[in-house]
Amino acid sequence: MSTNIKKHSYKTSVTDRRKLNEHNSFLIWFTGLSGSGKSTIANALEEKLHNQKFKTYVLDGDNIRKNLNKDLSFSPNDRKENIRRVAEVSKLMIDAGLIVIAAFISPYRKDRENVKATVQAKNFIEVFVDTSLFECERRDVKGLYKKSKKGEITNMTGLSSPYEVPLNPDIVIKTEEESVDLAVDKIMSFIKPKLSI
Ligand code: ADX
Repeated sequence: MSTNIKKHSYKTSVTDRRKLNEHNSFLIWFTGLSGSGKSTIANALEEKLHNQKFKTYVLDGDNIRKNLNKDLSFSPNDRKENIRRVAEVSKLMIDAGLIVIAAFISPYRKDRENVKATVQAKNFIEVFVDTSLFECERRDVKGLYKKSKKGEITNMTGLSSPYEVPLNPDIVIKTEEESVDLAVDKIMSFIKPKLSI
């Protein structure tokens, strides 16, 4: 509980850090089913930005759940807590001056809206990786869809747990029709006006 806590003010501000970096900082949020291609596109996008000397960091569901959020399951409440913590971490990283790329299923609209509110709308870009359940099941890179169908795992997004499609995403990527390179180009064009301070 946050009683008896007083906020300290520090002299160096986000504006100072952005100036030093010579670019803006914000959050690019990837949402979509497991196996939709979020991490693949996030990875390629970071590589492109990094090569252009932008300071970046990727937060990825599978990685974050191995350490910071290893106490969380896939129940609706634990997913909410997963996304809440990641939103707070993203906010700190934006404050640190980074371009943050986050790749989480984040199946609930409300949770994604909370991320936007936490980091402020002006710092939030929502990318919907719109790959059909049929295709994600066909790829089944991690074998999770098969496991879910055999009853070996519960709360599998798309099968035994819902995915709420974004109503107004900034960018939609259809991986069944677009290549990774095209997806990255699309995101780069969208963020271009946001990059400079
Ligand atoms: S989220 O729903 O809370 O946003 P997150 O993106 O962190 O999920 O983690 C998703 C990853 O966990 C998937 O890519 C998959 O590898 C793994 N996973 C394990 N069990 C499940 C499940 N029941 N539903 C979805 N993903 C699962």
